[in-house]
Amino acid sequence: MSIVAESMLGHAPEFRSLLRAAALVAPTDATVLISGESGTGKELLAHAIHQQSRRRHAPLITINCAALPEALAESELFGHHKGAFTGAVQQQIGRVQAAHGGTLFLDEIAEISPSVQAKLLRLLESGECQTVGVPHTSKVDLRIIAATNKNLQEWVRLGRFREDLYFRLNVVPLELPPLRQRREDLSLLLEAFANHFATRNSLQTPHYGACALQLLKNYSWPGNIRELRNFCERMSILYAGQKIIAADLPWEMRQATESALPMRASQLFALPVEGVDFEQLERQLIDQALERSGGNKSHAARLLGFSRDTFLYRLKKFSIPV
Ligand SMILES: Nc1ncnc2c1ncn2[C@@H]1O[C@H](COP(=O)(O)OP(=O)(O)OP(=O)(O)O)[C@@H](O)[C@H]1O
Ligand SMILES: [Mg+2]
Repeated sequence: MSIVAESMLGHAPEFRSLLRAAALVAPTDATVLISGESGTGKELLAHAIHQQSRRRHAPLITINCAALPEALAESELFGHHKGAFTGAVQQQIGRVQAAHGGTLFLDEIAEISPSVQAKLLRLLESGECQTVGVPHTSKVDLRIIAATNKNLQEWVRLGRFREDLYFRLNVVPLELPPLRQRREDLSLLLEAFANHFATRNSLQTPHYGACALQLLKNYSWPGNIRELRNFCERMSILYAGQKIIAADLPWEMRQATESALPMRASQLFALPVEGVDFEQLERQLIDQALERSGGNKSHAARLLGFSRDTFLYRLKKFSIPV
């Protein structure tokens, strides 16, 4: 298996085809533009690509373009000569030169100022850069990977990002899907993170009840894999070695599903062509209602639309202790 696939977990078809494309482009020198919502794994993917390239023994230099103050950006990127400007008391090598032989990772590329966009364009077009205060340009040998959580094409349309730079960057676009579009990977990720944090903290892994797992699958995960990872870390500490039920989940996760469920009873369930085992279905619904209510029978009865007495009668029918 490739290094790209090893470090990035997931089996969803869309995600696997993205990893295949990444594994193909990794050994080349092609410029890569990674896009995706916050927390989808852009930085992890950039590192995996570098690790699988012929440049892996040279540095991967990351520049967070959003944290680069405009006044300092040029000297930070390309370095400056001693005395090039007031305050330049000694020579400083730029991040671009430091990446010589390796990879330059331009994170949050949409945030870069127009003047630096022009300088990056020259770097991409000719491999040349100019240290501040030095009259000539010099060549650097590097591979560029850029990442953004913005729609760069839209930024070009709005005049916020240079179109020529966009085309230079967008040689191989790799778009990471949000977690809500790869829900089938949720169980795998939950288990991997649960094991990771249990091992790291010498704790027993918690496990999730069917109902809790369903709620997690329905949740929209706006912070994507980062949110899931942090959630797993928290649960691995608070519920070490225990079963996590629906009532243990944070409010927004329980909430998201309730509002996501169709409201009309007629839409809740479609009878499969082969029919159902009604008793088994009833038993499963009762178990899930009990799990979600944390064992509270009145609440469980309400979830199923029964009176408490009717619910208790059904518990007896299935020999569930009341
Ligand atoms: N497929 C994956 N398998 C395992 N862990 C992952 C995966 N994708 C992301 N992660 C983990 O999720 C967290 C967030 O990933 P990363 O920092 O790469 O996201 P990002 O897209 O760069 O986020 P942001 O836009 O906020 O900078 C990291 O801890 C990373 O290791
Ligand atoms: Mg990032």
